[in-house]
Amino acid sequence: MATPPQPWWSGGVLYQAYPRSFADSNGDGIGDLPGVRERLDYLHWLGVDGIWLNPTFPSPNRDWGYDVADYFDVHPDFGTLDDLDALIAAAGELGIRIVLDLVPAHTSDRHTWFSDSRSSRESPRRPWYIWRDEAGEQESVFGGKAWTYDERTGQYYHHLFLSEQPDLNWMLPEVRDAFDEILRFWFDRGVAGFRIDVVHELVKDPPSRPNRAEIHDVLRRWRSLARGYDPERLLVGETWVMELDELARFYGSNDELQLAFNFPFMFAGLDASALEDVVARTEAVLPAGALPVWALSNHDVVRFPTRMCDEDEAKVRAALLMLLTLRGTSFLYYGDELGMRQVDIPADRVRDVHDRDGARTPLPWGDAEWRDPWLPLGANVATVAEQRADPGSVLSFCREAIALRRGREDLVSGDYVPITSPTGVWAWQRGSDTGVALNLTGSEATVPLTGQVLLSTNGRDDPARLEPWEGVVVALS
Ligand code: NOJ
Ligand code: CA
Repeated sequence: MATPPQPWWSGGVLYQAYPRSFADSNGDGIGDLPGVRERLDYLHWLGVDGIWLNPTFPSPNRDWGYDVADYFDVHPDFGTLDDLDALIAAAGELGIRIVLDLVPAHTSDRHTWFSDSRSSRESPRRPWYIWRDEAGEQESVFGGKAWTYDERTGQYYHHLFLSEQPDLNWMLPEVRDAFDEILRFWFDRGVAGFRIDVVHELVKDPPSRPNRAEIHDVLRRWRSLARGYDPERLLVGETWVMELDELARFYGSNDELQLAFNFPFMFAGLDASALEDVVARTEAVLPAGALPVWALSNHDVVRFPTRMCDEDEAKVRAALLMLLTLRGTSFLYYGDELGMRQVDIPADRVRDVHDRDGARTPLPWGDAEWRDPWLPLGANVATVAEQRADPGSVLSFCREAIALRRGREDLVSGDYVPITSPTGVWAWQRGSDTGVALNLTGSEATVPLTGQVLLSTNGRDDPARLEPWEGVVVALS
């Protein structure tokens, strides 16, 4: 029997481009969609399969796009719907897919749904949000109560995040229908999928229990909608749970999300036994045929070179090699490919309510400088232009790792099988004849691999002896 064709993200690499900070086409200091289009050649050269853009919708930006005021348009800072169509088309010609960021758990308080809802208790939109006579005890993620009193109608509404982000009532069939329409609108335009915000807390009633059964009803519904498209559209969830069996539930029986972000992996640190343990348990707990997702940074957490690598380049290369050689789908956060570090933000430049600006600063291109960028450039690594010209740079290494992966079936689809190794060394086999070993210690180590070195973090070619923090990919013999 022929194996069914694999979806495009299987074994692929996606690149998270934070749109305000990726590339600015018109010099207003804010990255935009034409900017992404102008830089597609770079992403093609790097070798990625898809781009995830953080929310591109009109928004008052209290939470930088995660407070959506209109789900059917593009924020004027980023351009127009035509710009998005043009980006999808141009990326498509290079074999790169565009994934948008859906924010279904809450809207902006400026969304007309909420203005209607708060206008009167009798409004047909009243039940679209969560209104109660009494405030509950729950705290919001950004501090303060998760309930705000609304004078006009004398009730409290619920918001897990800011009071300007009222939570939708996902128990209501009309809300579910409204989002079907939103998904179809973008899928019909050629959007390849969605990263879905706060999936683990989507349905709330009362608002106290993550990962409720009702969430999975919604996910099955969206999956069948995604399946109705050719190619099938991708649903990758922000599934912020720290138990892997909870994480596995978001895949359902391969009928919910195709990919669910793995936060236990992101926070394991650069520690061989902790990482090996998370990866082994992830592999064990996912339903057969499901794909793990690996990411080290995103727009909500401290950049990985600072958070887990002490800003040490050898460690950064080892972490990137791991990210790009595990089984599944890997996500690079823009700047990861340069080894970009967290940026210190002076008090008078702070924009975010939750201290995340340091991971959201503009990408240093080097060939065209940002003019008056919305966040300080804080370039703490060599620029894209410099690193592209240097075959020994982190960027060149990252590109080589992606190219090796794309060209070697074992790394695209081969199983992951751990290999017993000395303490502090983590080694595994992919497929029939590819081995990976990482020495995550400060001393030389021997590893049980023989064969030809295909890639090393430091350019050496001895597979058996690894320098401190060295990683290798080996064609096993
Ligand atoms: C998760 C997003 O990644 C984060 O940036 C945002 O603040 C919250 N969800 C609320 O939407
Ligand atoms: Ca701009």
